[in-house]
Amino acid sequence: MSDITVIDQQHRELVNKFNQLNEAVKNKESREDIYRIIDDVISYTRMHFTTEEQLMVKSGYPEIEAHQEKHKQLIDEALQLKGKLDLIGEQMFTDWLNHWPFASVLAHIQYADKQVEDHIIQRGKA
Ligand SMILES: [Fe+2]
Ligand SMILES: [Fe+2]
Repeated sequence: MSDITVIDQQHRELVNKFNQLNEAVKNKESREDIYRIIDDVISYTRMHFTTEEQLMVKSGYPEIEAHQEKHKQLIDEALQLKGKLDLIGEQMFTDWLNHWPFASVLAHIQYADKQVEDHIIQRGKA
């Protein structure tokens, strides 16, 4: 499997997991189930970021430090928000979810990760 395929597949899986979380909140599933999905989203995201950072090193991507910093920031945001979960009531879940950094992660995939992929493709041609 090519490095680009690995990244793309993981991005798709990540989006699937975000959608699962959205659905679970919308369907008012149990707090326990929602917590489980959140943990799954966070651990999958960590795994994906590690993979992507390894591929950046492998391909000699020049802006790896800034990109790594962004990954760290996205995880920190998610963990902070997860920490607030215990403090909110059931009816607040939807509001809470609206603050989940989905949009930031999706934007990251579309712009920052796209630059990494372009770099890997260029390297492949060299
Ligand atoms: Fe990514
Ligand atoms: Fe990334």
